[in-house]
Amino acid sequence: MGSKILLLLTFINSVSLSTAEFTVGVNYGRVADNLPPPSQVSQFIITQTTINHVKIFDANPDVIKAFANTNISLTITVPNDAVSAVSKPSAAQSWVYDNVLPFLPATKIKRILVGNEILATGDKAVISRLLPSMKAIHSALQSANVEIQVSTPHSLGILSVSDPPSSGRFRRVYDRVIFAPILEFHRQTKTPFMVCPYPYFGYNEKTLDYALFKPNGGVLDKATGVNYTNMLDAQMDAVYSAMKRVGYGDVDIVVAETGWPSAGNPNQFGVSVDDAASYNGNLMKHMNSGAGTPLMPNRTFETFIFSLFNENLKTKGPSPEAPSPSSDTGTKKWCITKEEATDAELQANIDFVCGSGVDCKPIQGGGPCYEPDNVRSHASYAMNAYYQAHGRNDFDCDFSNTGVVSSSDPSYEECAYAA
Ligand SMILES: *[C@@H]1O[C@H](CO)[C@@H](O)[C@H](O)[C@H]1NC(C)=O
Ligand SMILES: *[C@@H]1O[C@H](CO)[C@@H](O)[C@H](O)[C@H]1NC(C)=O
Ligand SMILES: *[C@@H]1O[C@H](CO)[C@@H](O)[C@H](O)[C@H]1NC(C)=O
Repeated sequence: MGSKILLLLTFINSVSLSTAEFTVGVNYGRVADNLPPPSQVSQFIITQTTINHVKIFDANPDVIKAFANTNISLTITVPNDAVSAVSKPSAAQSWVYDNVLPFLPATKIKRILVGNEILATGDKAVISRLLPSMKAIHSALQSANVEIQVSTPHSLGILSVSDPPSSGRFRRVYDRVIFAPILEFHRQTKTPFMVCPYPYFGYNEKTLDYALFKPNGGVLDKATGVNYTNMLDAQMDAVYSAMKRVGYGDVDIVVAETGWPSAGNPNQFGVSVDDAASYNGNLMKHMNSGAGTPLMPNRTFETFIFSLFNENLKTKGPSPEAPSPSSDTGTKKWCITKEEATDAELQANIDFVCGSGVDCKPIQGGGPCYEPDNVRSHASYAMNAYYQAHGRNDFDCDFSNTGVVSSSDPSYEECAYAA
């Protein structure tokens, strides 16, 4: 399994420079047909690394068993396509009986995630069942007398504003209807709010050092006077500001996913094994240093690196080990706005995409895609950027039925659409 664990080793080596006792978590994704068996993976993690917490994207019994009788804590996931169903108490109970109880106490299952980035699916029916499903799983665990945390990870697309960090806020309507109740659940059950910040989606040639936690000139938040020295702190504080704005600044935050690709397109700036090692190593040191962030001083954040393996069958992003933009040049596709989409819907898409960490500077004043200065044109650019960054799945262009995939290149003059 030598080459497949390269990224892992590069960050472990950096992390082991520090002697502190802290959580070193990793996402163990398995969307691939070339991975070693789970038993070999768990042996590797136990004997060769300092990882003490593993997160998986399903509840695969072979993986759960592979971590039995070890000191590794496991976070397992109710897959997205089962999230609606488990809002029914009987279905939640069956899920817990089938996927959790058989493995206790041999495997230390610490946390169950109800879906993965459900808000980003844009599927209103599932979104409305997310909290009921979390509560149902929590109740099923309580009736079985087991203490396991329940949470769900969110992409930063949940924020409509993230810059400057102190102005961070959740998307309108979702703030009161979705996030305040979810945060109330976390407060009452003493469980963390989980997010997936990726400075990788927001850096450019000028901000690479800022994104990689290397010495840099800092970025000032004029509202607070805070001089940010790394992009992750800025993203975390934007999440915190949004939580605080709805009254829940006290709820713990866990970084469910973050990372940096070790390989990209030829000549892609800032993507190499060294850059990945810098990001992952500096990240783990920083997150566990006890320093916290400017708006959350002295707080530590359990953090899960993405990812253990380069998953060769993975199509859905973010997938930092194998960035998808331009990877299948044979079939170029773009995401554009549907004709019948309203300006209000398209503005919401711009807010969503630009709040998710995608670089929207090209459609801002002075950018090559600013003209024509109208919502439709800006939305097309933003929706396409999001679609490309997330692996070009049809559902990443759905935007509640306001986007459509096209095979003709919308680029014009100086405005180049990614493909
Ligand atoms: C788990 O950790 C404890 C305390 O450090 C240690 O005594 C024990 O041997 C470990 N168990 C396994 C299976 O590694
Ligand atoms: C922010 O911090 C950086 C790094 O310490 C420093 O170089 C820069 O001058 C600071 N900027 C401001 C506005 O204080
Ligand atoms: C953070 O820790 C430092 C050093 O222990 C202490 O001086 C400071 O008061 C703490 N800040 C907060 C907000 O707890």
